[in-house]
Amino acid sequence: MACLYLLTKTSSTNALLATVVVGLVAVAVAVALSSSPPVVGCYTSIFGFGDSITDTGNYMTSCLKGVVQCDDEYLKCSVPPYGETFFHRPTGRCSDGRLIIDFIAEHYGLPLVPPYAGGEDIKLGGSVNFAVIGAPALDDTYRDEQGTLTRKDISMKAQLDRFKNLLPSICKTSNCEEIFGSSLIVFGPFGGDDYSSAMSKKDIKEAHLLQPRIVNAIASAVEELIELGAVNIMVPGLMPDGCIAITLTLFYGSNQNDYDLTTGCLSWLNEFSQNHNKLLQNELNRIRDRHPNVFITYADYYNAALQLFGFPAKYGFHGRTLDACCGSEGPYNVDTSIGCGFPSSNVCADPSSYIDWDGPHLTEAANRWIAKGLLNGLYTNPNITASCVSATLNNL
Ligand SMILES: *[C@@H]1O[C@H](CO)[C@@H](O)[C@H](O)[C@H]1NC(C)=O
Repeated sequence: MACLYLLTKTSSTNALLATVVVGLVAVAVAVALSSSPPVVGCYTSIFGFGDSITDTGNYMTSCLKGVVQCDDEYLKCSVPPYGETFFHRPTGRCSDGRLIIDFIAEHYGLPLVPPYAGGEDIKLGGSVNFAVIGAPALDDTYRDEQGTLTRKDISMKAQLDRFKNLLPSICKTSNCEEIFGSSLIVFGPFGGDDYSSAMSKKDIKEAHLLQPRIVNAIASAVEELIELGAVNIMVPGLMPDGCIAITLTLFYGSNQNDYDLTTGCLSWLNEFSQNHNKLLQNELNRIRDRHPNVFITYADYYNAALQLFGFPAKYGFHGRTLDACCGSEGPYNVDTSIGCGFPSSNVCADPSSYIDWDGPHLTEAANRWIAKGLLNGLYTNPNITASCVSATLNNL
């Protein structure tokens, strides 16, 4: 802890500097992003993987069907007011509306990415989402060892296996190569759920030790996708966890010096996320060297989201910036034992004025800004939109 504390102190001036730069960029984004028509023709399908940030209904559908045993009374993200803003009903998405992957699909003129468990026939060359709420990056054996395994068969590896099993239906008679050539894989984010089990025990040391192991697992999975034929892969990093209402609540009462003065976020937790993201980008660089013909873009969810916490008013967020819109009494409107959707929980009148939706997850309004930041190239490295333009030209 002493070591973490020192790290926090020395980095606060850097953080302040970064905040100023980020502010200038924010103005540019806000100006450039009035709603634009979809970019048709770049990709014909999207394959999604990940956890609750990306799950468009797998957890809910498989629970309702009884395919898996559901581990809580109030089905996670499957009861009102989840979905109230856009779908006007719960869809299993952990938000009041659309997720980042939904906005990416809309941007490319594609239907929202259906969950594999949804029972719809997998269309030839069509999009499929494999992401599941609570999915860890490390496989079940690790969770078993730790005694934290709640659901089997949702891990990153399980999602890849499911994808491999479905490939014959996805490709059918046409060749997989063609389908992969025009599809975008959104791979992640992964890691959040592994870290949160360590964090909830407040075992920061263990969480730190997990980082190389998790990043290596993600990198191996990306290489496996490439071996299967994937050619366009977006790999998101972690969100700024020090700004998320659930972690702020978990570590409530930390030393005043642990907080960033401008945002109120926990600096050492943000540094934790940044460290994971740095390791991940190093691995992605190695993979790019080995596979120069594969387009791998890093999606900087961290900085795209940090913008919103740094300059909330600029993006139309007028609620208490760090509070969850939906939750229960607590310093950030979060009570870890009374989640959003529980009978005694409350919900804000205007979710679009909040960044945080339910403690761990962001509102549709926040997701939309993050997606826009990715798609205009500011928070994808390399610029996903530039790659798409050249891909379209090459196909002409
Ligand atoms: C990303 O690429 C697109 C298309 O070439 C371009 O319009 C956009 O300005 C680029 N974004 C950045 C941040 O450079």
